[in-house]
Formats: sequence, C-alpha cells, structure tokens
Amino acid sequence: MNSSRATLLPSLTTNISRVASKGLYCSTATTGLRASYSALRPLASSRHRNFSTSQKTQLDFFPPPKNLPNIKITPPSWPHPPASEEQLNKIEVAHRETRTLSDSVAYNTVRFLRWGTDLFTGYRHDPNKPYIMSERKWLIRFIFLETVAGVPGMVGGMLRHLRSLRRMKRDNGWIETLLEDAYNERMHLLTFLKMAEPGWFMKLMILGAQGVFCNGFFFAYLINPTICHRFVGYLEEEATKTYSYAIEDLDSGKLPAWETLQAPDIAVKYWNMPEGHQTMRDLLLYIRADEAKHREIHHTLANLKAEDPNPFVSVYKDPTKPHPGPSIEHIKSKGWEREDVI
Ligand SMILES: [Fe+2]
Ligand SMILES: [Fe+2]
Repeated sequence: MNSSRATLLPSLTTNISRVASKGLYCSTATTGLRASYSALRPLASSRHRNFSTSQKTQLDFFPPPKNLPNIKITPPSWPHPPASEEQLNKIEVAHRETRTLSDSVAYNTVRFLRWGTDLFTGYRHDPNKPYIMSERKWLIRFIFLETVAGVPGMVGGMLRHLRSLRRMKRDNGWIETLLEDAYNERMHLLTFLKMAEPGWFMKLMILGAQGVFCNGFFFAYLINPTICHRFVGYLEEEATKTYSYAIEDLDSGKLPAWETLQAPDIAVKYWNMPEGHQTMRDLLLYIRADEAKHREIHHTLANLKAEDPNPFVSVYKDPTKPHPGPSIEHIKSKGWEREDVI
C-alpha cells in the first residue's frame, strides 16, 4: 500500500480517501475499505463521531504546492498588522447602546441569531448552572461561527465594488477594508480547522447557514447598508464576548487540554506570533483582538455616510491626534462617531 500510495497523485489520493471514507461511514463490515482508508489517512481511521478533535485534518490533503519551479512563497495579500502584548490584553467586552430604531432592529436580530446558535452548538455560559463547555464544544462553536463571520465583509465589499462600477463613482476606500475583514475571518476558520475536523452533520449545517445568511445579507445590504454594518458591529460584540469567555475558561483551568497546546503553524505565520508567545491562549488573544477590531470597524462604518472616505485607511491632517487605523493602537470598542473622524 505504501509503494502504491507513493505513486498516486495528491488529488487522486484525496478522491480515493473520500470514497473510502464514505464507504466506511456507510457500512461497518467493509474491512477492505477500512484497510485502505487507514493506510491513506492513518490518524483519522478511528473516527466515529460527527466532529473530531484529532490533530490531523482534511486540510492536510489540500496543501499549498511545494517546490514549484518559479514560485518561492505566496505571502498573504493582507499581512496582519502587528499587535503588542499590552494591546492584546487591553481588549474588553463592550456594548454600544442602541440609539435609533434601525440600531434596535440590528441588535435584536443579533440576539435572535445568538439564541439559535447557542441552542445548536450546545453553548451555555452561566456560572449558576452546571458547566458544560469543553475544548471540543468551544471548537465546534468557533468553527461554525467563523464560517458565518467571513460572509458580511465579502458581500459588503462586493456590493460596494458593483455600486462603484454601475454608478461610475469612486468608493473612497471601503472595499479593501471589507475584503480584509472577510480574509481575516477566513484565517480564523483555517486556523481552527487545523485543530478539529467537522463531520457531515456540521458540514450540512454550515452549508445551510451559508445559503441562508449569504443571500439574506446580500439583499439586506442592497436595501440598507447602514443597518447591516450596525448588525455586524453587534455580531462582533458577541464574538469578542465569546473569545473572552474562552480565555476566562482557559485561565480558570476548565480547559486542561489547551493549557500546553501550541498554536498551529498557519497561525504563528499569519499573526507573526513572537517566540515564547505561540500558545493556544496567545492565539485566542489575537483572535479576540481581531473580533474587537471588526466591532470597531462596523460600528464606525454604520455611523458614516456611504460617500464618506474610509477612516481606517485615511491619512489625517493632524497625525498626533488619535484616529482610526488598521491596527488596534487606538481601538474604540463602540466605534468612532462621524464628527470625530471625517
Ligand atoms: Fe472571527
Ligand atoms: Fe469577527
């Protein structure tokens, strides 16, 4: 099997692996299939649950091509801005009070979605009730949420791009920030997929959630982009809260398997995690800061007019005065008011 495996192309290996895996799930009496399956995917052969927290994942079967004749490396299109330890630790849970009817609509929609997601992922964070969140449950929640979180930036960026084309007007810098937001969320997802692999049920749920959310957000953004940015601002408040709770759990000894866990390579490279700060806890701090940054960006964009320049990429007349930027240096948890930045 080893010699034949060596002669198989990676894509063919993947396909055979998939067929073998399907066969394994369909029948427990397929000894031959089990044998080829375990030879192709040795560390995943004992999987029987819908959701596994094994170290090896399917991502390993889609590695970036190595040793190409001309290309040395493909760096990220949006390198992550640097963040100091002090800045990461300063991130806080916050809530921007609703001020208008559209704020209330956005906030209540988020609360409703959160209720549904909590129910689906088995999430509960109430110290008065028996404690039920484990490492595995946190990962299920993270993965599900990150597959949804990458949608708004891409849809918003795409619609602003199309708007600029059809109106033949400039966009004033919003598109890139929105696409970067989506890219950053996808990096969160890819990082967690290095730690756990969703099973078929979870994949089905992700497919359904994307179908509904992507189309819903698309039409909502066409009708009222402001309310959509506010909605994402509130969604990111919840994301910041979720990662803060996970860090709290880790610190209070409720997640022993993560105490010595090192962050995956993909994360160390993307966040430029310094030597000695490459643990799971460090990773959660970086991701929480990203969510807080999205919270700031979307609450701010919701305060602006569609034609305003993007304050996160603008050059300011007085650079000594704190202003929005790509990093978390002057992060404002409730967003910047229009009169402060434009
Ligand atoms: Fe995220
Ligand atoms: Fe986010």
